[in-house]
Amino acid sequence: MEQKRILVTSALPYANGAIHFGHLAGAYLPADMYVRYQRLRGRDVLYICGSDEHGVSILISSKNEGVTPKEIIDRYHEMNKSAFERVGISFDNYSRTSLPVHHETAQEWFADFRERDLLTRSSEKQLYDPEARMFLPDRFVVGICPHCGYERAYGDQCENCSKYYDQTELIHPRSLLSDADPIVKEAQHWHFPLGDFQEKLEEYVASHEKDWKDNVLQQVRSWLKAKLSDRPISRDLTWGVQVPGEEEGKVLYVWFEAVLGYISSTKEWAAREDTPDRWKEYWCSEDTKYVAFIGKDNIVFHCLMFPAMLMARGGYVLPDNVPANEFLNLEGKKFSKSQNWSIELKEFLDEYPADPLRYTLAMNMPETRDSDFYWKDFQARNNNELADILGNFVNRTAHFTGKHFNRTVPEAGVLDETDESFLAEFAKTAEMVAANYERYRFRDAVVSTMNLARAANKYFNDREPWKTIKSDPAVCATTLNCSLQAIYALSVFIEPVLPFTAEKLRHFLALPDDAPLRWDGPAEYRLPAGHKLGEKVLLFDKIDDKTVEAETAKLGAMAAGDEEEERTYPPLKPEITIEDFMRLDLRTGTIREAEKVPKSNKLIRIIVDIGSEQRQIVAGIAKQYKPEDLVGKTIVIVANLKPAKLFGLESQGMLLAGSTEDTGPVILTPLSDLPDGAQVK
Ligand code: MF3
Ligand code: ZN
Repeated sequence: MEQKRILVTSALPYANGAIHFGHLAGAYLPADMYVRYQRLRGRDVLYICGSDEHGVSILISSKNEGVTPKEIIDRYHEMNKSAFERVGISFDNYSRTSLPVHHETAQEWFADFRERDLLTRSSEKQLYDPEARMFLPDRFVVGICPHCGYERAYGDQCENCSKYYDQTELIHPRSLLSDADPIVKEAQHWHFPLGDFQEKLEEYVASHEKDWKDNVLQQVRSWLKAKLSDRPISRDLTWGVQVPGEEEGKVLYVWFEAVLGYISSTKEWAAREDTPDRWKEYWCSEDTKYVAFIGKDNIVFHCLMFPAMLMARGGYVLPDNVPANEFLNLEGKKFSKSQNWSIELKEFLDEYPADPLRYTLAMNMPETRDSDFYWKDFQARNNNELADILGNFVNRTAHFTGKHFNRTVPEAGVLDETDESFLAEFAKTAEMVAANYERYRFRDAVVSTMNLARAANKYFNDREPWKTIKSDPAVCATTLNCSLQAIYALSVFIEPVLPFTAEKLRHFLALPDDAPLRWDGPAEYRLPAGHKLGEKVLLFDKIDDKTVEAETAKLGAMAAGDEEEERTYPPLKPEITIEDFMRLDLRTGTIREAEKVPKSNKLIRIIVDIGSEQRQIVAGIAKQYKPEDLVGKTIVIVANLKPAKLFGLESQGMLLAGSTEDTGPVILTPLSDLPDGAQVK
């Protein structure tokens, strides 16, 4: 099937925080480069996104900040929308899932599934907080991850190992709302029959074995191998898209409706364009190629759940590719807002132009593995590559033409082999860069693009026009003619990654009306001799060492007084009595043995001597401690905790550790000597 149009989406970011570099490099910059490239090919391409404004993460932010969810989403929607614009992400539409068009769309999908008897309604076991008297949303409960033993795993997904599970699988779950032990209670929920799509999804994935990225295929295959099961698609919450025909307080699970946000955003676009039905052209034609850009944490939903929903609905196009990126880190550490280890887009753009950032992120794009943004690297890319190669070449050419040729394109005389092969580079670059974009290889695309700038810089050097202007003016004119043609070629090829610079180049060239702003332009079209050029433009400012030092020092440094604002604390639990506390049996004990649990990179198995007996405890501390450093240490354990199994090993108690998201568990030990088995109270 020949594909007539391309539909591109980027994951809808939650409207509860500011977009940072990690997000940008993951799902937005590559999509934007792809879209800009396709537009230059003259293809019919539509780029859709918007804010994801439901889900518990929004509720938690609103609780933390003490404002309504609406205030949260309004603030961050506007903030992110404008940051995206300033960094040149060229959405055709940036919608929001709180709009009526989205609520209607999601409800219509749900109602269609229900009417066709696709959905099942069954009771679902869920954690219920008897004190707060509510079912606990996934993000309001933490416990030990059933897969890796991470101790602060949320109810739906572990931040440590990225696995999804059901909240009732958490070991030792704790409510973040109150201290009452959550109990498992039944609630009526709607389920989507994902299990029924096992075979169809296997076929679908198999048909993309050749074109999907390895990281994507790997994750999807492991899901398929474990067999898909039916998924609950409703939740007991007050914020979200109401389940049609149900009492208030039942909403559609955020993931079920968020992916439909792509469709409602397209509807909003079509209505604004005064062609209200045109959204169907993109979503409901077999000759659409649909590409969904996401970060790696969204793979399951875009490769299995959403396709199954689209299959179930019928008549919709499935993603042709889901080029998921891995994560981008910052100077060797995970982005963390609470630790001030982050660079927000908005603040960055107040100081620096967008293009050097786009370039740096593209050159470090986490395409196959996690990567990093380093300020030093940003400086080097800006100074040594953009300024010294691309900028320098354009500058010298502009300066020379201004000085010696009255700012007009000089006549190209007889071309020798060097000129010919230089001009032939344009078509080669066009082809090579295109092949990389078509295969979602963004870094390679940019490397090949910059190679043309390198070749141009070298050409200018080798031809030495500052000499030939005296010795052989005709050759000099040829050199400058070819150099100007190269600026035109660069103005086209750099557009996907450096759109603002491309614009400046076009301004400088004052392109004639018949000059095609198309990918194949540079191979076919030549600026005519005699064409008057525009004003010279400055492309890149250099960044000095002082700036880099200051920016690096800012990371992690908390301005005095900022601390309280920046950190969020889990809410304090309700008061308990001394009797409540006394039910805990806390004991000191010496660690006698410690070893890593085979096949787990997080768990350590320890034997603790609490005087009266020895206990085996399995704890998720391998990231923070080496087994040999633990032996001989006195620690405190909860000695009367019901045993639990982890990786097939019984854990007979729990060791006490303080932890935050950023530090991970830190083990508590007595300040001075205590014999084993002492009571802690
Ligand atoms: N808001 C989700 C996230 O940031 C992504 C949602 S993608 C969508 O992880 F398709 F569901 F909208
Ligand atoms: Zn885990």
